Amino acid sequence: MVEQTGALNAFGPGKVILLGEHGVVYGRPALAGALSWGVSARAVPSRRCRLLVPGAVRGAGRKLLLSAFARAAAITGQPPVAVSVESDLPPSMGLGSSAALAVACAKVLLEAAGRKPMPRAVAEIAEVMEKEFHGTPSGVDHTTSAQARLIHFRRRPGARSPTVRAVHSPRPLKILVALVGQRSPTRRTVQRLRERRERWRGRYDRLFDEIGRLADEGARAVEAGDLEALGDLMNVNHGLLSSLQLSSGGLDEMVYRLRGLGALGAKLTGAGGDGGAVIGLFWEPEPVMARLSREGIRCFTSQVGGPRAL
Ligand code: PMV
Repeated sequence: MVEQTGALNAFGPGKVILLGEHGVVYGRPALAGALSWGVSARAVPSRRCRLLVPGAVRGAGRKLLLSAFARAAAITGQPPVAVSVESDLPPSMGLGSSAALAVACAKVLLEAAGRKPMPRAVAEIAEVMEKEFHGTPSGVDHTTSAQARLIHFRRRPGARSPTVRAVHSPRPLKILVALVGQRSPTRRTVQRLRERRERWRGRYDRLFDEIGRLADEGARAVEAGDLEALGDLMNVNHGLLSSLQLSSGGLDEMVYRLRGLGALGAKLTGAGGDGGAVIGLFWEPEPVMARLSREGIRCFTSQVGGPRAL
């Protein structure tokens, strides 16, 4: 979007995986939606293409950010802008903050280069940045952010690009996101799971198959407006993630808490591990948010159909 000052603005939403994290790394489907919260990027005219790194980001994080941005700048032909970013997502909690940043930067750089920020072009640039941040992600994070809606995502092993289908919900999909402690980086959690899977491949692949089936069923449940079925699928998915040793006492406790407060379903979302985010699907999450906030629990509500969803 162009302001009168010549500044450009773009938004990259964060994401939640409703069903299918980790299985998605092994080619199984996932159901993921864009949050109403994310990262805003603003580009102003400048002599050279550069990122104004937020002051709080230092050391290795700063270096990583600059090298990821440099790759996006090179792809878009170094448009002469200075880009600043502002996030309202907690980082490293499974909510796709790095993908949201990559998408916001990709959009604003494409616009500055005089190109339309279409989801496919945005996703291609964001993927390059995400690889810089995370090594070999499945791509579900930046694809969901670039699409800015609820999607059924699958990247089959060896496939260059994923199959992405928009999932339309006849009803608003409202969730509460609660944050539980700190967690290890996604890369480490994914690597540890990979080691267990190497050792006990048959058993782990059976669980991934089942997680993928839940994602397929979830997409159908959403399209049918059957949020109770979606909630049940989320509960089952949490159980399977737990059996893969991806949950923790703190995450489980929050899952049970949200179910006790009336969630149709609750589960960890993202890589999990020793902490991270828990989501609960609610008809009306606001009163629950007010109650948990009073207890000092960090939480927020969102739609999962993207920033402009009902
Ligand atoms: O980085 P997170 O916590 O949003 O996890 C992404 C989802 C995983 O399936 C665990 C990893 C991936 O690459 O898809």
